[in-house]
Amino acid sequence: MSTRIEKISADDCKNNKILAEAAQIIKSGGLVAFPTETVYGLGANALDSAASKKIYSAKGRPSDNPLIAHISSLDMLDTLIWDMNLNAQKLIQTFWPGPLTLIFKKKDIVPFETTGGLLTVAVRMPSNKTALNLIQYAGVPIAAPSANSSGKPSPTSAEHVIRDLNGKIDMIIDGGEAEVGLESTIVDVSEEKAHILRPGAITKEMIDFVISDTSNETHSTPDNKAPKAPGMKYKHYAPKAEMLLVCGNPENIAQKIISLSSNETRKTLIMATEETKQYYKDFENVWVMGSRCIPESIAKNLFNLLRQSDILGCEVIYAEGIEAEGIGEAVMNRLSKACGYNIIHI
Ligand code: TXA
Ligand code: MG
Repeated sequence: MSTRIEKISADDCKNNKILAEAAQIIKSGGLVAFPTETVYGLGANALDSAASKKIYSAKGRPSDNPLIAHISSLDMLDTLIWDMNLNAQKLIQTFWPGPLTLIFKKKDIVPFETTGGLLTVAVRMPSNKTALNLIQYAGVPIAAPSANSSGKPSPTSAEHVIRDLNGKIDMIIDGGEAEVGLESTIVDVSEEKAHILRPGAITKEMIDFVISDTSNETHSTPDNKAPKAPGMKYKHYAPKAEMLLVCGNPENIAQKIISLSSNETRKTLIMATEETKQYYKDFENVWVMGSRCIPESIAKNLFNLLRQSDILGCEVIYAEGIEAEGIGEAVMNRLSKACGYNIIHI
């Protein structure tokens, strides 16, 4: 299959002919990768079971890992779900459109191929204008997981999508770099008490400000057999290199990484921060993830760096841990998975 690749800027996505054609592909059961504010999504008609199935085969994704249905209006939400509680209403009012996915009990119209066999459906209204217009043109909710091959870091640019899916899907819309760089926060609002299933840019603190009594169920570990978001149990974001995450006080972290790296004969990469990069002057491959003071900058760069480490042919990565506060919690969640929970605290 040849994949059509088209650039569309967010300022140019209204009445856009290419976007209308992309919507037509979705309506007729095809696959289109598109930008969102979190990461790129691989879209298909969420109400078409055959189209959803194509997503799983293009990504090599296990079929019990459900997809997120992306919507452009609350009317579209009504077609997918039975009702919503007060928590859901408050979260929608405060954070949609934006990087928050909510889990509801589904109506029959949503096929089990989209929900991985579950009776609930994950829904998100993205804020990215190109994504919103694409959904609006298509007139159907768009099921979209991250547009990477299963197991790889989520794509934050069209180049990442091209690398993984070129030749396997109908179209890729290049809308530049994703603003957030990490996937959406997921909150299960299908029961009275809200459960946070995946940390993201909408932080626990922000959610607690709007609704009370949430539980945090994001701490999946390799032995957590039945995480509530099925996708959390799969191997994720893993670079080809062996990776170690070092946590603690920044100065101690740097000392530990220096001593470990000094004894390395393998091709080594250090993933440092603005605040600590000066400690590693004697080392060759030192990449700055971003600033500890602005964890959003680390969130934005992280997946690209993990992908670049493969391209560079790194054999071992020593990465600095950051404080798991605010969006730092989501950064640490992804770093922990990337290293397969190979973590030391000093
Ligand atoms: O930011 C994002 O969320 C991106 C963009 C494209 O919107 N999408 C994304 O999708 O990250 P994906 O498929 O890579 O991750 C969706 C996660 C998976 O861990 C999946 O198991 C979980 O959401 N999920 C989906 N439906 C669910 C449900 N009904 N109950 C529990 N977890 C669900
Ligand atoms: Mg994904």
